[in-house]
Amino acid sequence: MATGFGFELKATDGKARTGVISTPRGDIRTPAFMPVGTAATVKAMLPESVRETGADILLGNTYHLMLRPTAERIDRLGGLHKFMNWERPILTDSGGFQVMSLAGLRKLTEKGVTFKSHVDGSKHEITPERSMEIQRLLGSDIVMCFDECTPFPATEEQALESMRLSMRWAQRSRDAFGDRPGHALFGIQQGSTFRDQREESAEALQKIGFDGYAVGGLAVGEGQEMMFDVLDYAPDMLPVDKPRYLMGVGKPDDIVGAVKRGIDMMDCVLPSRSGRTGQVFTRRGVLNIKNARHQDDPRPLDEDCTCPACRNYSRAYLHHTFRAKEIIQSMLLTWHNLHYYQDLMQGMCDAIAAGTFAEWEADFHAKRAEGDI
Ligand code: GUN
Ligand code: ZN
Repeated sequence: MATGFGFELKATDGKARTGVISTPRGDIRTPAFMPVGTAATVKAMLPESVRETGADILLGNTYHLMLRPTAERIDRLGGLHKFMNWERPILTDSGGFQVMSLAGLRKLTEKGVTFKSHVDGSKHEITPERSMEIQRLLGSDIVMCFDECTPFPATEEQALESMRLSMRWAQRSRDAFGDRPGHALFGIQQGSTFRDQREESAEALQKIGFDGYAVGGLAVGEGQEMMFDVLDYAPDMLPVDKPRYLMGVGKPDDIVGAVKRGIDMMDCVLPSRSGRTGQVFTRRGVLNIKNARHQDDPRPLDEDCTCPACRNYSRAYLHHTFRAKEIIQSMLLTWHNLHYYQDLMQGMCDAIAAGTFAEWEADFHAKRAEGDI
């Protein structure tokens, strides 16, 4: 571990783990869900409200911030934490994944990737070295290696070539990152759905040595069953005593399944993005607030939720503000969804610590199966 960083496992239950990552900017309880603050804001939320939902750490994006307002400007203004008024830990993704999903005219070579900005069409390059520089300028606490998220589906040959490129980039990321007390660098395992490639990747990363290890290249269209097949073995290939981060996941049942298989950290835009499109996560499943059946309903979104949307507003009000396109509905639904996700994580932490994860999981699925929301 980098100085100033630590990971302490507190309890395990089956493969599920609970613990604490300690950083100079505060502790991160695991399993942890990281809300996504792509453009230096968790959309529709004040940072203090995000904290109130229970979040210990946010995710930021190299790709978006390098284009606008630029990493150099954020650095001149005192770093990302100060810029966005979030003083707790921030993890930044390294850029490649977002280039592939958002940028125009991309070209990938051994050196890195060149692309056209989705904002103004300007030309840019990210290499492992540049990604490390941008994440340093941002002041990120947990820096991710620059990698290629192998598209799905990929042939064995394509996946192997892509994974080996990511492993060479992982070494370059490590070399460029250097020694930065108080800041951690995570490696990213690739290898698509091929077990031997996941093994090779895990070994290559451990040989280089990282402060934590991510499982990348999942939730890219393979479906939950295939993702769980990979998660049945991939986390076991990573060190027991370092945090394991599943990137870009997911729906509540994906998250529960990942924690069950030994994952400690996750991030996803789903709770915040869904908050802006009317999709609501509850203990009894998903509902859409735009549906007319909510227009006279005095009940809260979720009887067991203590968020401001559930404490103070009816489904009827949330339906009305959604239909009227009032800004408050994005705020309230995002708050609820993030609060729900954090409650989910806390429930798992407690159950793992108590050795009752299997019962907790059965109850989680049973409540959703009852439906009738
Ligand atoms: N986000 C979701 N999946 C990935 C991945 O494989 N790599 C990176 N860098 N980010 C991701
Ligand atoms: Zn709520």
